[in-house]
Amino acid sequence: TLAAWEEIFFELQEMDLRLSQVKFPSKGIDKKLKNTLDKALEGVALKKDELLHLLTLKEISAIDMLSRAANFLRQKYHQNSCCVHGIIEISSYCSKHCTYCGISTANSSLQRYRMNTGEIIEAAVKAVKEYGFQALVLQSGEDPSYRLDELCNTIKKIKEKVPVLICISFGEVGLDGLKNLYDAGARAILLRFETSNNKIYKKLHPGSSLDSRLEHIKKARELGYLIMTGSLIGLPEQTAEDIINDIHLAKELGAEMYSFGPFVPHPQTPLAKHQSPKEEEILKTLALIRLIDPENAKILVTTAFETLSPSARKKGLLAGANTVMLNVTPTKYRKKYEIYPNRAHSYDEISCQIEETIELLKSLGRAPTDLGVH
Ligand code: 5AD
Repeated sequence: TLAAWEEIFFELQEMDLRLSQVKFPSKGIDKKLKNTLDKALEGVALKKDELLHLLTLKEISAIDMLSRAANFLRQKYHQNSCCVHGIIEISSYCSKHCTYCGISTANSSLQRYRMNTGEIIEAAVKAVKEYGFQALVLQSGEDPSYRLDELCNTIKKIKEKVPVLICISFGEVGLDGLKNLYDAGARAILLRFETSNNKIYKKLHPGSSLDSRLEHIKKARELGYLIMTGSLIGLPEQTAEDIINDIHLAKELGAEMYSFGPFVPHPQTPLAKHQSPKEEEILKTLALIRLIDPENAKILVTTAFETLSPSARKKGLLAGANTVMLNVTPTKYRKKYEIYPNRAHSYDEISCQIEETIELLKSLGRAPTDLGVH
């Protein structure tokens, strides 16, 4: 119950504090690494070559030290809070041709679905009333069959029924679209720029431009939306420098939440044969985000990362991350939203996901902030 949760609140805080202390080994430690991390811990902004050094660390023990430094900063500025958001994937139709994405219009073997207004409202109201979510992402491919006024209407109706922060994630809806959705009550947007490298962007997104993507994100910020953005890690030709530029770009765009996750190959796409990155590459990226934006960043452990590795959530939360997203799409649709195969939690009932999340958070001394736990 909620009361039981409150009773152990101080216990949790203590545990988090204990787990986030930095204890670097006294012997055999790389001096350069220790100096760089000490600087970061003191709040000094790191230079590009120092960031590159951290992002290209190879040894597990060194990566562990980087994670610990990030975890220390996470605790220092955010204490033991962990945001828990819900996501409802309302349609898998998409008119775009992104070469990494399983719901790209080019994938003709995918069975598509589209939730109607009633179904979306029902799922959202249930997530809030029954499970206590306070923030929900509504996501879809760029589905031209949803008229904008229909989406606006859906958002208005949800907000009439329940108090909830609605985050839209419908791709590029046009600048007027952003305004209309904001007026309807949406207050956050999840729109990744996918990569800050123009050349890579062009190759992966036929018919689309990075400029247009960034224009949308900037306009959304101007309108007052909270910005959730980020990139894909492990794209073909992407370098460590690109990833550092991605993090800086997300910060410049005013990211409230950083959504950086691994590329996971989908067999029905042109990138089917390209491998996903190693777990450590993602952990280093999460940690670096924390070092670059220690005070403000909410950093998400993405479902893609959880798909890559069963211990991703725990390791991510111990490497600077402080946000998780649970999938509250009705289970009959969930597995059809196949941006990549075998997504984590494709079959888990919401109540199971919540239970699992709470258990993990408790074991780490964290308390959920966006989820009313009962
Ligand atoms: N692997 C990982 N993430 C993917 N996305 C799309 N396809 C893949 C993939 N194969 C991500 C994109 C998009 C988000 C909704 O899903 O970054 O912004």
